[in-house]
Amino acid sequence: MLLPVIMAGGTGSRLWPMSRELYPKQFLRLHGRLSMLQETVERLNGLEVREPVVICNEEHRFLVAEQLRQIDKLSQNIILEPVGRNTAPAIALAALNAISDGNDPLMLVLAADHIINDTKAFHQAIAFATPYAEKDSLVTFGIVPTGPETGYGYIQRGDIVGNISELFKVKRFVEKPDEETAGKYIESGEYYWNSGMFMFRAKKYLEELKKYRPDILEACELAIANSTRNDAFTNLDKDCFMACPDESVDYAVMEKTDEAVVVSLNAGWSDVGSWSALWDVSEKDTANNAITGDAFIHNTENCYINTDEKLVAAIGVENLVIVSTKDAVLVVDKNKVQDVKRIVEFLKAEQ
Ligand code: GDD
Ligand code: MG
Repeated sequence: MLLPVIMAGGTGSRLWPMSRELYPKQFLRLHGRLSMLQETVERLNGLEVREPVVICNEEHRFLVAEQLRQIDKLSQNIILEPVGRNTAPAIALAALNAISDGNDPLMLVLAADHIINDTKAFHQAIAFATPYAEKDSLVTFGIVPTGPETGYGYIQRGDIVGNISELFKVKRFVEKPDEETAGKYIESGEYYWNSGMFMFRAKKYLEELKKYRPDILEACELAIANSTRNDAFTNLDKDCFMACPDESVDYAVMEKTDEAVVVSLNAGWSDVGSWSALWDVSEKDTANNAITGDAFIHNTENCYINTDEKLVAAIGVENLVIVSTKDAVLVVDKNKVQDVKRIVEFLKAEQ
């Protein structure tokens, strides 16, 4: 049975000031009635899957456990990282943990912070992917791109695989190209965005990681071998894991492997990576404003306003993002929202 592996250790810094170190994006209710993590788990309803494994920072252990409990999906398998070392190690930890009982499960690796509107189409793509992942391919889910975004991985499709018109060999995988390169990829019509979700056998991933980044594998093996278990939580050995290099699965494995296939996913996917991405998927008024909370607006267009306590008033403005929280207010041009993470870097440096 499929083993869902949910990566929930990111910082979501582009969604400051709502997303904070102690309460990052994946634990927020940004879209709909559940948090992003809860949505991710609920989206698996209807699939034949095992209890999900969640990998997150140890600071968030109670938040994760509590959010899973709220939806009646308490997991007995939460792996706690003492520090973030990005997704290549996170997936390796889940894979090592999963094979420790002698099995080699098929893992469905998911990010805890995506929106997918069409669950049926998502399940269908998983069904397409399953036989190929079972036969030792590394499957990625590809999104038809709508612009030269630089925050995504790009997948060039190769030959069609099998008899399903939505499945292709991966010719090339390029993580986060610059804008000019991304523009060329879009023009060619041969590329997908990488959705950041994957499917492969645990041992297959570890084999590929050993080929390309044995240093990461070794550090993760040590961290797991010296870990301790406390109820649902696996606590990694801190020193061993601190010594692990920081690298994403995209750079460590996906750019390098020859054994990747891509399944196209047309399911209303968004990684809600920025305030403008959230505006894109939000309900809007007739002047294209998306408003959450108490706001007074006049002659205002194309704005995203989110306030959790104070009344926000906006007059005669357009294309702005205004986010007000208890202790911080953000005002940014909707075309400059990628730079919000700079504020976080700046504030961190100030501390
Ligand atoms: N456990 C754990 N530990 N999880 C992590 C860590 C970590 O150190 N770092 C990130 N994650 C989680 C995040 O919470 C998120 O759910 C997921 O892993 C992806 O990490 P991001 O940091 O959000 O990656 P990205 O958005 O920059 O890029 C990835 O996703 C894009 C699509 O959203 C890449 O896979 C791109 O190729 C892809 O296009
Ligand atoms: Mg992301």
